[in-house]
Amino acid sequence: MPFCIGLTGGIGSGKSSAAEIFEKLGAALVDTDVIAHALTQPGGAAIAAIRRGFGDEYIGPDGSLDRGRMRRLVFGDGDAKKKLEAILHPLIREQSRARIAAAQAPYVIIVVPLLFETGAYRDLLRRVVVVDCGEQQQVTRTMARSKLSEREVRAIMAAQLPRAERLQRADDVLANDGDPAALRRQVETLHRTYVALARDA
Ligand SMILES: Nc1ncnc2c1ncn2[C@@H]1O[C@H](COP(=O)(O)OP(=O)(O)OP(=O)(O)O)[C@@H](O)[C@H]1O
Ligand SMILES: [Mg+2]
Repeated sequence: MPFCIGLTGGIGSGKSSAAEIFEKLGAALVDTDVIAHALTQPGGAAIAAIRRGFGDEYIGPDGSLDRGRMRRLVFGDGDAKKKLEAILHPLIREQSRARIAAAQAPYVIIVVPLLFETGAYRDLLRRVVVVDCGEQQQVTRTMARSKLSEREVRAIMAAQLPRAERLQRADDVLANDGDPAALRRQVETLHRTYVALARDA
């Protein structure tokens, strides 16, 4: 297995932004959100099971998951949420592991939004980097690029690990409360560290 580093952080903290910089510098990138999304696109590996488990009305005319409808269902229905996760999570894990095993790079960055909350990939990860910014910045940045209201963003944040605990569990921290150039400089420094660690591993 290649040298694997988990990348996590709260909603809107800058995970995707940081991951993109690592990838440009030469890391292999495995993004569990991207994999989850692909599974529920037309022809995606989860579509047949979702159709069987939930009914045709959850699959749109183009053959992709009707995300809005599913979101509304699972929001108030814990059993439905568990059922959906039971379909998606094994597929996400399987595809992530296949991509990690196939990676041709000095090290692999695996983006897992709820890494600490779920304990996912713990056995694979040699290190965890947390992307961090102020809570108000999380709200502002998330609202700027989604249709979520401040209340909705804060509700999602409340369901995630508190900022202080996430920071406490981190091996490395990317402080993303400055401008994008400041994030880039920190990623460049960590990249050099990770290349060296992977070489000596
Ligand atoms: N340092 C920064 N300054 C200003 N805007 C930023 C900065 N970092 C990220 N952003 C912007 O904030 C938004 C959220 O960033 P990004 O998508 O990287 O976060 P994320 O943690 O992946 O979010 P999600 O939890 O929704 O996946 C994006 O629109 C991004 O361009
Ligand atoms: Mg993201």
